[in-house]
Amino acid sequence: DEVRRPFVAGNWKMYKTVGEAVELAQNLVTETNGTVNEVVIFPPFTALESVAEAIDGKSVGYGAQDLCWEDEGAFTGAVSGAQIADIGCEYVLVGHSERREIFKEDNEIIAKKMKAAYRNQLKPVLCVGETEAERKQGATNAKIEGQLKSALAGISAEQAKLLTVAYEPIWAIGTGNTATAQDAQEVCLFIRKQLNEIVGEDVARHIRILYGGSVKDTNAAQFCINGIDGVLVGGASLKVESFAKIVRSF
Ligand code: G3P
Repeated sequence: DEVRRPFVAGNWKMYKTVGEAVELAQNLVTETNGTVNEVVIFPPFTALESVAEAIDGKSVGYGAQDLCWEDEGAFTGAVSGAQIADIGCEYVLVGHSERREIFKEDNEIIAKKMKAAYRNQLKPVLCVGETEAERKQGATNAKIEGQLKSALAGISAEQAKLLTVAYEPIWAIGTGNTATAQDAQEVCLFIRKQLNEIVGEDVARHIRILYGGSVKDTNAAQFCINGIDGVLVGGASLKVESFAKIVRSF
């Protein structure tokens, strides 16, 4: 569907000093020059403003890895959507499995974060996915359906058009154990079916669905198939050569 531009995103997680981040961001701008894909990086908060200053207006976009559900207040250690928008971010990751699992964020918190993102004109990249145990129990679709429905409750059609969904099976993240292209495709098609039901087909056709979980320069091309509109890359986005290859191969 040509309404959905292919999207290649790099989540840097808790890696990179400010100096390293700026250098990587600038090199990525050079190395991905001319791609038709949308390329967006998610540096750590400490480096976000410096990266923004270095690449703003260039071909690589940037966003934050997380946001608070409130816009300001006594929330020690948190960063708000208003603050993220203030430094020019276009995107924000919401509900990454590391936030859900390690920091114990539930669907209710994530629903509030979705609203905070839209309130501040940020485009959310909503992450969903099952654990290995859930997959073995055949509970993958039910888990994802619940995650989508709660995150999209109270979101308007205009807002939903700006959404990206990333399917990241937890057992595939950082393990080197990628989902097969068929497994990834199957779940991404299920996500599209759910989105069609929740927001209607006219709105859902604008929503991109990405695969994430051990995407490398050696396996990225296989995910460039019907139903998958891009990839969300962790480890392999930390080196300019591998990430630029992924951008070119998708
Ligand atoms: O958000 C990206 C992610 O969780 C995948 O990480 O290192 O398996 O590519 P990785």
